[in-house]
Amino acid sequence: MAETITIIDDRTGKKVTVQVKDGVFASSALRELDPNLRMYDPAFLSTAACSSSITYLDGEAGVLRYRGYPIEQLAEKSTFLEVAYLLLNGELPTTQQAEKWKFDVTHHTMIHENMRKRFVDGFHYDAHPMGMFISAIAALGTFYDDSKNIFDEDVLNKQILRLVAKVPTIAAMTYRFSSGLPFVLPNNSMPYAQNFLNMMYRIGDDYTVHPALARAMDVLFILHADHEQNCGTTTMRVVASSHADPYSATAAAAAALSGPLHGGANEAVIHMLHEISDVKNVSAFVEQVKNGDDRLMGFGHRVYKNFDPRATILKKAAYDVFEVTGKNPLLDVALKLEEVALNDEYFISRKLYPNVDFYSGLIYQALGFPVEMFTVLFAIPRTVGWLAHMSELLKDKEQKISRPRQWYTGVDERNYVEMKKR
Ligand code: ACO
Repeated sequence: MAETITIIDDRTGKKVTVQVKDGVFASSALRELDPNLRMYDPAFLSTAACSSSITYLDGEAGVLRYRGYPIEQLAEKSTFLEVAYLLLNGELPTTQQAEKWKFDVTHHTMIHENMRKRFVDGFHYDAHPMGMFISAIAALGTFYDDSKNIFDEDVLNKQILRLVAKVPTIAAMTYRFSSGLPFVLPNNSMPYAQNFLNMMYRIGDDYTVHPALARAMDVLFILHADHEQNCGTTTMRVVASSHADPYSATAAAAAALSGPLHGGANEAVIHMLHEISDVKNVSAFVEQVKNGDDRLMGFGHRVYKNFDPRATILKKAAYDVFEVTGKNPLLDVALKLEEVALNDEYFISRKLYPNVDFYSGLIYQALGFPVEMFTVLFAIPRTVGWLAHMSELLKDKEQKISRPRQWYTGVDERNYVEMKKR
C-alpha cells in the first residue's frame, strides 16, 4: 500500500503527493499548492507541532510509555528519580549514574534565603499555593545569571538539576507559608518523595514519614512526570522556542497547568465530590451533567478514549494509601459516580472515562494535602517532563520560534471616526 497522500487543489488543478510516516505528513506540502494556504486547526486537534522521542501515547489502546518503558512497569519497579533520569537522558541510569544523579539532586535542594524570607513572605496570607509556585519558579531564575546560556549544554543541565531538586522545596514552602508554619529545610539523607513529605509536615522532632505513603507519593510523581504535548508542555515548548531561560519557561508551563481543564482538575474533582457529598445524590448530579449544567470533573481526555492507564494504577494505589490513613470518606461517592457514568449512554457514546485526576485527589487528601496544593503536587514531577521537552526542542534543527498563523475574520479596512461622530 502506498504510504503517500495526494492533495488536489480544485481551484487550480494543482496537486501534490506527500509521504505519510507513522500517520503524519508534512503540512509544508500545502504551501507547495499555494503559499497562502493555511490549515485551520483550533486547539491543534490534528496538528503534530514537533517530533519527539520522549513519551509514547496511544489513546485508543490506553498505552503510555516513557522512552519505550510501559508506565505500569515504571510505577511498579522504578523510583521517581530514576524515571526523571530516564526522561531527561533517554536511558535508565546505571548504578553509578543513579548514585551520582541522586547525590546531585539531593545537594541542590536548598533555595536562597532571600527567596524564603523576602519573596515568599511578601505574599498575602491567603495566596493560592499554585500562584506562589508559578511566581517563585520565575523568580528563582533571577538568582542564576548564567541561566540564559541555554545553548551551553553544561549550563542548561545545571539549571535542569537545580529545578528538579528545588521544586519540592518551593512547593513545601508555599504550603508552610499558607499554614503559618515555620519552613522545614531539606534533609540530605532522605529520598526525594520522603524529603518532600518531611518538608511539608514535620513539626518538631516527632514526625516520621510512613514508607508506604512515601512510596505512594513517589508513584504519583512517576505517573505525572510526562504526558507528551498537553497544554502545559506545549506552553513550555512555545515559550522555550523564543529562547527564554528554563525558569521563565517552566513558570509559563506551570501557569498553563493551573487551569481547571488541565492540572487544576484534581482540585475540581474534590470540590465536585464534596458538592455531591452522598452516594444518594450521584444520579441527580449525573443528570445535571447530561443536561449540560455541570461537567464531570476527572472524566474525559483529549487523547485517551478507552481508559487512562494512570487512572487504573492510581485506583489501586488509593487502596494502599487508605490502608495506612483510613478510607477517604469521599471514596464511596467517587466509586458510585464512576459506576453510574461508565454505564450511562451519554458517557459511553462520548468515550468519557476516569482520567488521572479522578483518583489522585482522593489520595492527596488522604495524605493530608489541602486541595489548594493539588496542582502544585502535579507540577513537581511535571517539571521533569517540561525540561526534557525543552532540551529536546533546543537540539531539534527543524524547530524555530513558535508562531502560528491566524484566520482573520474581522472587519475590512475602514477609516477612523471622530469621537463626536460615533
Ligand atoms: N463531563 C461531561 N461531558 C463531557 C466531559 C465531562 N468531563 N468531557 C467531555 N464532555 C462532552 C462534551 O460536552 C462534548 O459533548 P458534545 O459532543 O455533546 O458537545 C464531548 O464530551 C466531547 O468533549 P470535548 O470538550 O470536545 O473534549 P475535549 O477533548 O476537548 O476535552 C477535556 C477534553 C478538557 C479533558 C474534557 O473531557 C473535560 O473538560 N474534562 C473534565 C476536566 C478534566 O478532568 N480535566 C483533566 C484532564 S487530564 C489532565 O489534564 C491531567
